[in-house]
Formats: sequence, structure tokens, C-alpha cells
Amino acid sequence: MPAAIPGPKSHSFGLNFMSQFKNDPLGTMKHLKAEFGDVVNVKFGPVNWVLCNHPDHIKEVFVTNWRNYGKTDRFKQILSSVDGQGLVLTEGDFWLRQRRIIQPSFNHERLIKDYSLAMQEETNRHIANWRDGMDINLHDEMTALTLKVTARVFFDVDASSDAEELANAVSAVSKVMYQEFSDIILLPDWLPIPSKAEKRKAVETIDRFIYKVIEQHKNDPSANTVVAMLLNAKDVEGDGKGMSKRQVRDEAITMFNAGHDSTASALTWTWYELLRHGEIYKQLLEQVDNAAGSKVPDLTSLSAIPLAAQSVKEALRLYPPAWVLPRQCNQDVELAGYQLKKGSLINTSPFVMQRDERFFENPNDFNPYRFAPEKEKAMYPFSFFPFGAGPRSCIGKEFALMEMQLLMAIISQRFEFILHPDSHDVQLYPMVSLEPKGGVKAKIVERKRGG
Ligand code: HEM
Repeated sequence: MPAAIPGPKSHSFGLNFMSQFKNDPLGTMKHLKAEFGDVVNVKFGPVNWVLCNHPDHIKEVFVTNWRNYGKTDRFKQILSSVDGQGLVLTEGDFWLRQRRIIQPSFNHERLIKDYSLAMQEETNRHIANWRDGMDINLHDEMTALTLKVTARVFFDVDASSDAEELANAVSAVSKVMYQEFSDIILLPDWLPIPSKAEKRKAVETIDRFIYKVIEQHKNDPSANTVVAMLLNAKDVEGDGKGMSKRQVRDEAITMFNAGHDSTASALTWTWYELLRHGEIYKQLLEQVDNAAGSKVPDLTSLSAIPLAAQSVKEALRLYPPAWVLPRQCNQDVELAGYQLKKGSLINTSPFVMQRDERFFENPNDFNPYRFAPEKEKAMYPFSFFPFGAGPRSCIGKEFALMEMQLLMAIISQRFEFILHPDSHDVQLYPMVSLEPKGGVKAKIVERKRGG
């Protein structure tokens, strides 16, 4: 008889566990690991819900045997009404084709040439409204700023009311979807109930926006946006064909969804920790001043501001926006020495793993220096995976890392922040992204230019 995976005794078909998980997913996962170890099984009716807590499992599930572990049925059901056939949802040959077509638009050259300038301009424009002594909520500001950047780079619209309407629709849909992830029974989208009506209305707004942008792009062949790239992309290694309008819509909204909130949350957490660690923050400001002097920091400045990248990565370690990465076995598998049936749900949590003291010394401390290049190289492989791992890892990783560093450098040249006493101990709020509950309140202090 195959060995049973350790785990809690299941009552009421696992419903008690599900309600516990719904109320406190991060605490529940931490508790399961502390009590049962690296592989934990919770019986949920006939299905096994397995939590894997060792980096070797990440390698196995996301890299070595990634084809055996697909996106979960529930994830696909909930997201497909919004993302359609977008990259995060599809599998097999269709996914591979789309990934091949889209990948070049996020290569390094393209990032430097086309997108970084837009990031600079939008940041400068946004912070032009800031004044010395102003009280702000950093999460709101970072959300607004990353929206402007994304709206410009993806669609070439400035954050006009249209883009804001899109962001509101995406945020409304995210809330409904988050609720659906934790509902025991998934109801069909056509039901005449308020949450479904809200979802349908939001999807209509998204469609209206994106199809309008697609039409505008057809009249402007020189546009240099993600949508333009999607419209022009051809599968040169395959059938040589491009994408339908519907597919362009699906990919654009998928990337907007995947990238916007996560980048804003990660940036906010980075500021939060920097403001709580005055010495590190001071050093970052010094690096910014030395790197850029009086010129506005650009991509070439970033190599002289290593603390920007290191702080962002450290925040992504402590507060990974994607705090759980679920998979479903699409055949019987052997994982960590256990036999698992087709359909079993495999959960991995960057949040739990990246705070494991076996892999990170003083794991709950904010210490960006652990990402100094030689130290980062020595990390246990796959213990740090905020962007996932293997073939299905984040296509926007470089884009997001560049955006966060650049925004931090530009802002830091002109302003610094002082944490508001209400925000000295911000709680985690695991929604679609891992958000700071109530945001992070701070006061703006204008710096003298160049130091
Ligand atoms: C801090 C910011 C970000 C974080 C933490 C993040 C995290 C992730 C993670 C963990 C995955 C893998 C999901 C899985 O394995 O189930 C992923 C996939 C993905 N991300 Fe990101 N992401 C970020 C920003 C972005 C941006 C800016 C974009 C778009 C430009 C983007 C587009 C995507 C797409 C399309 C996928 C699916 C890739 C595929 O399945 O082939 N992400 N992201």
C-alpha cells in the first residue's frame, strides 16, 4: 500500500478546512507546514489538496515534469470569462505558440528602447503633482502610477478616464474572482445575481476599451505598444499567421491583469520596508544621487543603484504578490516519493517558502543585502520564486523589475517619504495580489535636487 501523505484529519469533507483557508490562507498554510512538514495532504471530498513546501518540489512541478501539472480547472473556469484564451490560461501547443509569438516583445532590447522612456515620462508627469508636506497613501499612488505606465506602454492612452474605467473594471472583476476562488460551489456566470452582473458589466467595459484601442492602432501603423506588437506578431516558426482580434484582446487583458496590481503591491511593500529601515533607505538615496546627479535617472543609472533591485527583490521575497501558485495533476504522478492521482491539486506558496529559515537566515527580517549578486547566486535553487519557475514563469518579469527600479530611482531623486504612525505595522491582505491592508500612509518630503 502506498505511503499516505501526512495531513490533518478531514471533517465534513474538508469544508472546515476550506473555510479556515478562506479566512486566513497564509496562516493556514504556515500552520500546515509547521505541523506536518514539507508535503501535506488535506482531503477535500474525493480530491487531494496537497501543499508542497520544499524548493525541490518547485523544481519538479514547474521545471522537470511541468507538463504533468496544468493550471487548475477552477482557475480556468473563473478566469476564462475575463481573460478568454490568454496566455496564463491556455495549455499545450496553443499556449506554446502564443508564448513564442509574445516573448520577443518583452526581450531586453525592446524593454530598453521602447518602454523605459514611457516609464520615465509617466513617472515624471505623475510626481509633478506632489508637494512637500503632502500626506499620501503609497499604495494608491503606486497603483495610479503603474496604471499610467501600463496604459501608455500597452495601449498608448494616457491615464484618461478611459484607462481609469478599465482599471476600475479590472479591479471589480478581480474582487468577484477572488470571492469565486474561495466559494465552495462555482456558480455559472449568466446567473442574475449581483456579483455575476458586476462581472458581466466589467467584462463589457474591458471589451469596449480594448476593441477601441485595437481599432485606433489599425489607423496608426507606427504605434509602439504591446497591442501593436500583438497585432503585428506572426508565428514565424509555425504557420506564419498572426492573431485574431479576439486573441489580441485576450492576450492584452491577460497581461494587464497579471501585471498591474502585482507591480503596484510589490512597489508599495518595498517603500514600506525601506521607510521602516532608515539606514538602508538613506543608502539608497545616496546611491541615487551618486548615480544620476542632476539628470533624471534612466536605465543606464540603475547599475549604480544596486539597492533598488535588491530592495525590490527582498520585498518580493517577504511579500510575493502571487502568494500561492496552484496546479492540478493531469495524470497520475509520483511527487516527493508519494503517488498522486490525476486531478490532485498541488499548491506551492512563495510566501511560505520564502520565509523558511532553512533557506533564508532570519527569514522575517528585511535585508536587501541578501540579494547581493554573489549571495543571490548561492541561494538554494528555487527557494525564491516570486515570478514562478520554468516554462510557465512570468513573461513580464524583466518588465516589472525594470519598472519598479526605475520608478523608485526617479521618485527618490526628488522626494523622500516619512511613514505615518498609522502605518508602522501594516497587515497583509491576500487578495488576487498580496496587498497591504489599508495601504501605506506617508508624508512627502521634497529633497534638494541632487542630494
Ligand atoms: C511584480 C510583478 C509581477 C509578479 C510578482 C508576477 C508573478 C507571476 C507569476 C508567479 C507567474 C506564474 C504563474 C503560475 O505559474 O501559475 C506569472 C505569469 C505571468 N505573468 Fe507575471 N508577474 C508580475 C508582473 C507581470 C507583468 C508586468 C506582466 C505583463 C507585462 C505579467 C504577465 C504574466 C503572464 C502573461 C504570465 C503567464 C505566462 C505563461 O503562462 O506563459 N506579469 N507572473
